[in-house]
Amino acid sequence: MPNATQTASAGQMPDAGGQPNVPEASAGAAARPAVAARVKIHARDVNVHYGEKHALKHVDLDVNEHEVTALIGPSGCGKSTFLRCMNRMNDVIDNCQVTGSITLDGTDVYDPSLDVVQLRARVGMVFQKPNPFPKSIYENVAYGPRIHGIARGKSELDEIVHRSLTRAGLLKEVNDRLNEPGTGLSGGQQQRLCIARAIAVNPEVILMDEPCSALDPIATAKIEELIDELRENYTIVIVTHSMQQAARVSQRTAFFHLGDLVEVGDTEQIFTNPKDSRTQGYITGRFG
Ligand SMILES: Nc1ncnc2c1ncn2[C@@H]1O[C@H](COP(=O)(O)OP(=O)(O)O)[C@@H](O)[C@H]1O
Ligand SMILES: [Mg+2]
Repeated sequence: MPNATQTASAGQMPDAGGQPNVPEASAGAAARPAVAARVKIHARDVNVHYGEKHALKHVDLDVNEHEVTALIGPSGCGKSTFLRCMNRMNDVIDNCQVTGSITLDGTDVYDPSLDVVQLRARVGMVFQKPNPFPKSIYENVAYGPRIHGIARGKSELDEIVHRSLTRAGLLKEVNDRLNEPGTGLSGGQQQRLCIARAIAVNPEVILMDEPCSALDPIATAKIEELIDELRENYTIVIVTHSMQQAARVSQRTAFFHLGDLVEVGDTEQIFTNPKDSRTQGYITGRFG
C-alpha cells in the first residue's frame, strides 16, 4: 500500500524543528533533512519534439524523494514540457514525440505495457488554473478513489475525503459545506481542492505547473506553506516563473533555457553561486 510506505518513510524523517534558523530566501534549501536523498525519478537523455520543433534537448535530471524540485527558466524553455514527460501527459498531445529514458522507482515510465491511468495516479498533477470538476467539494475528492476502486464502502471513502482535505489544508474551511459546488470556492481554495483531489489517490509524486500564478499573494503564501508540508509524504516537482517562490519552497532547482537543462543543483547554490553564465544572467534579471 502506498499509504503505508508513505507513513513509514515519513516516520524516518528527521525532525525539521531541529534545523537552524536561516534567512528567508534560503529557508527551503536549509530545511532539507540531513539524510542522503533517494532518487525517485531518474531522467536520462530526454528529448521532446513537437513536429519539427525540438522543444527539449538531451535532458538528464534526478528528482529526489521527499524534496521539492523547482523548474525555472524563461517562458517557452520547456519547463511544462518536461513536467508532462514525467506522467506521460505529452501522450495526449498530437505530434509530440518523447525519446530517452524516465524511470519512477526504477520502473520505465514509457514501457508500452505500463498502465498510464495507474501512472497518473502515482504521479499526480496540479495545473496553473484551478480546475475543479463541476461537482460538489466532496465529489471532487471522492472521484479518483472511486474510479480507482481505492475505497471499500462509504465510510472509507468519507475517511479518504477528510484526510485529503486535511492534508491540503482545506478541511476546516469547507467542512460545513462539503456538498456545495467546488467551483464556488475562492481561487486559492479551489487550488487546494485540486491538491486534495490529487492526494486522494495516494500519489507518490505531485507535479505542479505554476500552481500559484492565478492566485493572490495571500493564497500563494498558503499554497507555498502547504507545499513545504506535503514534501514529508510526497515528492514534488514545481514549475514556477517566480524565482522567489523557487527559493522559498524548493530544495533543488533546475534551470532550463531554450530546451536545454543548463544547470541543476541545491537551490541555495543555484541562487547564490550559479556555475553557468546563463543561469547567472537569468537569476540576476538580465534576461527572462
Ligand atoms: N502542444 C504544443 N505544440 C507545439 N509546440 C509546443 C506545444 N507545447 C509547447 N510547445 C513549444 O515547446 C516549447 C516549450 O514549451 P513549454 O514547455 O510550454 O515551455 P515553458 O513551460 O517553459 O513556458 C515552446 O517553444 C513551445 O512553443
Ligand atoms: Mg509552462
